[in-house]
Formats: sequence, C-alpha cells, structure tokens
Amino acid sequence: MVVALVCGGGNAAHVLAGMGASRPDTEVRVLTLYADEAERWEKALEGTTLCVTSKPDKKSYTANPTKVSKDPAKVVPGSDIIMITVPAFAHAQYFSAIKPHMKEGVVIVGLPGRAGFDFAAHGILGEKASCCTLISFESLPWACRLTEYGLSASILGTKQVLQGAMQLGTPNPPQDPVAMMQRLLGERPVLKTSGHLLSMTLMAVNSYIHPSIMYGRWHDYDGLPLKDAPLFYQGVDEMAANMLTKTSDEGVSVAKEIMKLRPAVDLTTVTPIIEWYQRCYSGEIGDPTNLMTSLHTNKAYDGLKHPVTENEDESVVPNFKYRYLTEDLPFGLAVVRGVAEIMKISTPNIDKVLLWGQEKIGKEYLVQGKLNGKDVCETRAPQAYGLTTLDAVLGF
Ligand code: NAI
Repeated sequence: MVVALVCGGGNAAHVLAGMGASRPDTEVRVLTLYADEAERWEKALEGTTLCVTSKPDKKSYTANPTKVSKDPAKVVPGSDIIMITVPAFAHAQYFSAIKPHMKEGVVIVGLPGRAGFDFAAHGILGEKASCCTLISFESLPWACRLTEYGLSASILGTKQVLQGAMQLGTPNPPQDPVAMMQRLLGERPVLKTSGHLLSMTLMAVNSYIHPSIMYGRWHDYDGLPLKDAPLFYQGVDEMAANMLTKTSDEGVSVAKEIMKLRPAVDLTTVTPIIEWYQRCYSGEIGDPTNLMTSLHTNKAYDGLKHPVTENEDESVVPNFKYRYLTEDLPFGLAVVRGVAEIMKISTPNIDKVLLWGQEKIGKEYLVQGKLNGKDVCETRAPQAYGLTTLDAVLGF
C-alpha cells in the first residue's frame, strides 16, 4: 500500500488525485491550503466521484481521494510520497505545512519543481531535508484542465518522457521512489531521473525563455499602444533569439564550472536551449535550422501572444506584471544568477535581462552587480536561504 499526498487544488492536482486514487493498493489524500478549495473539494466528494478523462487515449480514471483537507495534521502523517503540484510561488507554504508532520524516508516531488525547488526544500525543511528524498521534474506529465471543481478534469496531451533529478535521503525510502511515482501515473510519460537535483534548477527553461523573449520584444519599447498583441514565440526576432541562446548558455557555463570543481556532480542534462527544443518538440518543429526558426515553426506555439492589457479603444499595451516576469524572474532567472554569483561566473546577458525585467515589475534583485537587492528574500535564489557556498548549493 502506498499513501500518496497531492499538494494543491488546481488542474494538475485533480488529475493526479483521480488517476492516483484509481490505482490498486494506493491511498490518495489532498492538501490544499488555498482559499476555500479544500471545503469545495470535500463538498464535491459527497456522493459523487472524481472523473479524469484522457482525451488522446480515450481512457478515464474514476476514483476519489480518501481525504481532502486544509489541515496538514489530517493528511500528512503516514504519507509515503508527497507531490507538490502548484505554481512555484506557492511551494514555500507547502514545505512549511508538511515539515512538522512528515515521516523520515518520505519522498517529496516537485511536479514541476522549477528553479530553486532544491534551495527551498533545504532552506525551509532545514535538517529534516536530509531525511527526505527530493525529486524535481522539469514539467507536468500532461497538459490538463480542471473542468468541474472536485468532480472532473481532462488530460489534453501526455508527454512521452518526463525528465527529473533526484536526491536520495537517509533513510532511503522503503520503495523505489521513481517506480512508486510511475505506478501512480501509469505507462506514460516514462519518468527519467538522472543527475544532481541542481540540474533541474539550471535547466528550468522558463527561466530563460520567457524573460529573454520579453526583453527582446520590449527593451526598447516606446510606450505607444499597439493594434494587436504580437506573437510571443513565433514573433521572436534574431536579437531576441540570440539573447535566449546567450542567457541559456550562461546557465550551461555555470553547470560546466561546477562539474569541473566537483567531478562527482552530474549536471550533464543542463544543455543549450536549442537542444532542449530538439528533445522536447522534435515532432512539432517544422524548420529546426536554428533557434529562431525552431520557435517560429513550433506548432505547439501557434497563435500564442504577448501578455497585454487592452485599452478602451481596443488598442493594447504590454503587460509586464505577468508571470513571464513576475514568476520567471524570482523563481527563475534570479535563481540561476544567484548560483552564478556563488561560482563567481559573470553572466552579462542574464544581468541585462534581469536588470531590465526587475525594473518592469518594481523589484530590486540585482544591485551594482550583486544579487543582494531588498527583494532577494522573495526569490528562490540560494542567497534567500542563506546558502552561500558551493557545497550548500549542492546540499552537501
Ligand atoms: P493551476 O493554475 O491550476 O494551480 C492553481 C492552484 O495553485 C490553485 O488551485 C491553488 O491550489 C494553488 N494556488 C494558486 N494561487 C495560490 C496562492 N496565492 N497561494 C497558494 N496556493 C495558490 O496550475 P496547474 O495547471 O495545476 O499547474 C501546476 C503547475 O504546473 C504550474 O506551475 C503550471 O505552470 C505547470 N504546468 C501546467 C500545465 C497544465 O497543462 N495545467 C502544463 C505544464 C506545466
């Protein structure tokens, strides 16, 4: 019997809860701390059953979690695996909530983990982090949508493979953690974990993609309204594509330098962004000649536009207070910059994007070349948790 705890109450939490609960010998519980979600979900459970439908393979999974609660004391004790499946800005409150109640040997999964999942785990769980096995995945297993709260959700697409990294705790979990997770998800996606947990922080691609494209499009914006929102990925020009290549390359150079100093640390999954596109979107990209053509011809990006705010006359202006900057800087680029600073590696392109972006969202992270601005404490950079040496960053 596996006791699995799903942390969150959104799209992914519904799919994970319904699918997991339908597996034999599995008890699924849900912890959702947000607003009245626990209450709403509990109410929905009365007399009905959660149904998750997978559109691509026309399967459905019908089963309820045994408990849904806002109170960690009611659902955390006894959990073998805890899967945190909320946006990165909400991870910290889940780490704090589970900390007093989790057992030794528990597996904690960031689904997705995003940049700094490792630092938040160590920073918030403190000594208890070493008793947990930590796994961070690069994304969600599916594209999914909740259709009726507590009652139904749809899987729109399932990945073939999902890359992650793991740090085993002491004691080791009684069951193989990846096999445990795979059993909950079924055959697809195939879960692959390799390398050091830090690889998921340095290879959290949204950290590079969204801020670099925002910078490319708007760094010299004249403030005048536009007729329509420009295409986000498919409207990228050479300059923005180059900026994305350069910010990602700076992340790769941080990884390489760490591997040079600590040969036992495997960060080989940290690759240039073009290789990530080739790995994840090979079937969707029409012209893979270079990064710009790959972005322009990626079918998964068809029609996706820049975030904008509409004026009364239907003209639009860019919306800088959107997650592409408000999340992907503090839970993305600033985290990479923080690791680079500890490694004393200069990152002129990351700095350029970060300085521009932080000003747009009214934050101070990078000041006079140091990541010590007044808002660093709101980021997941290692400095925010007092991790200031390479060993601390690696969780040693
Ligand atoms: P979601 O947007 O449905 O999650 C929202 C949930 O997060 C809420 O239901 C609530 O439980 C929690 N939350 C929101 N605001 C909060 C706050 N201020 N304080 C505390 N909790 C709060 O997210 P979804 O779709 O379930 O995705 C989870 C993660 O996976 C996100 O990081 C998302 O970017 C990523 N992702 C989602 C995909 C999808 O198809 N849904 C695909 C790939 C990645």
